[in-house]
Amino acid sequence: MYQPHFSIAQIAAQEYLSEADIRLLLSLEKPRDLEMLFQIADEIRQYYVGDEVHLRGIIEFSNLCRRNCDYCGLRHANHTIVRYRMDEIEILQAIERIYQSGISTVVLQSGEDLHWSRSRVSELIKEIKRRFPLAITLSLGERDADTYRDWFEAGADRYLLKIETTNPAIYKKIHPDCDYQERVRCQKDLRQIGYQLGSGFMIGLPGQSIDDLAKDIYHLQEIGADMAGMGPFIPDSNTPLAKDEAGAAEMTLKAIAASRLLTKVTHLPATTSLETLSPGGRLLALKAGANVIMPNFTPMKYRKNYAIYPKKAGVSLSPDALLEKIKTEIDAAGRTIAQNPGHSLRSQWRVMSKR
Ligand code: 5AD
Ligand code: SF4
Repeated sequence: MYQPHFSIAQIAAQEYLSEADIRLLLSLEKPRDLEMLFQIADEIRQYYVGDEVHLRGIIEFSNLCRRNCDYCGLRHANHTIVRYRMDEIEILQAIERIYQSGISTVVLQSGEDLHWSRSRVSELIKEIKRRFPLAITLSLGERDADTYRDWFEAGADRYLLKIETTNPAIYKKIHPDCDYQERVRCQKDLRQIGYQLGSGFMIGLPGQSIDDLAKDIYHLQEIGADMAGMGPFIPDSNTPLAKDEAGAAEMTLKAIAASRLLTKVTHLPATTSLETLSPGGRLLALKAGANVIMPNFTPMKYRKNYAIYPKKAGVSLSPDALLEKIKTEIDAAGRTIAQNPGHSLRSQWRVMSKR
C-alpha cells in the first residue's frame, strides 16, 4: 500500500513540525509526493502571508571582500574579477530608480568591504532615509555589535546575514577565515538590537546531507529569522570548489516548502541562484511557498563583476527589463505585487499562536 500522501498531509496539518518531520519532507522523491508537498506549502503560504509578493530592490555596491569563502567568486584571493566600489551618488541614483519603480525596500549588499566604515555607512543610511520613504535592508557581513547598533539607530530596518550551513565541520571547511560561533553571535546581536533578521543557507554544498539541511531549516526557527534565503550552491571556476557538483533545484524547492510549513510567516525569497541553475525555478519557488523576489538594480556596468557564481540570471537585463520579467512571473503564479513595505510578520504570528 502506497502511503506517503497520508503522512505529508498529516505532517502539514501540525502546528509545529519536528526535525524528523522536516527530514521526511526533504526525502520525498516521487513526483506526486512532491506535487502534494508544494501544493500544501502554497496553501500554507496563502493562509499565513497572502497572495502578495514583496519586491526588494538590491544594489550590489561593492564587490571587494576581505574573506575567502571557498564557494564564492568574490573571495579575496580571486584576482580574475575587476573590483569596483560605487560611491554615494551612484548608490542614491540607483535607489531613486527603485523608488520610482514603486518598490518599498532597498537591499544594500556588498562583500565584506571595510572601506565602507561604520560612519560612512551610517551617513549613507541617514541620507537614504532623508530622501526616500523606503525600508532599508543591509547585507554587509560580519561587524561588531556597536556598528550594528549604530546602523540600526541611523535607520536600517533589516539585516541579511545567512548562516550558510549549520554543520560546523562543513562551515569550517568552506570558510577558511570565518568562525561559526562568531556568525551566530552576529545573528543574535542583530536580533537583540532590533533588526528584522534575514538568514538562509545554500543547498547542495559538498558533503551536505538531508540531516544537515533539516537542521539548517530548524535553525531558522531557533534564531528567529524573519526572512530566509535558500539557493542552490553553484560551483564557480575561480574558486576552490570549482570541481564540485551544483546543488539540485528540486531539493531547493523542497527546502523552501518545508521552511514554509515549519515557520509559517517567514519571508522566503524565490532566489536568483535558483533561477540561474534552473530557468523557470523562480516561478516554481513562488508556487512552493516563496513570497519575495529581489530584483537587481545594480548599474549595468558593474553587474557582471558581482560574480558570486557564474552566469547569474538576469545579469544582462536592465533593471526595467528584469522587473518586467519578474512581473510576468508573479502574474503567471496568480499573485499580486505588495504595495506595502513587507515588514516581518513574526510578531503577529507569535501573538496569534500565543508564543
Ligand atoms: N553558489 C550559490 N550561492 C552562493 N553564494 C555565494 N557563493 C555562492 C555560490 N557559489 C551566496 C551565499 C552568500 C551570498 C552572498 O551568495 O549564500 O550569502
Ligand atoms: Fe565575501 Fe560574502 Fe563571498 Fe564570503 S560569501 S567571499 S564574505 S562576498
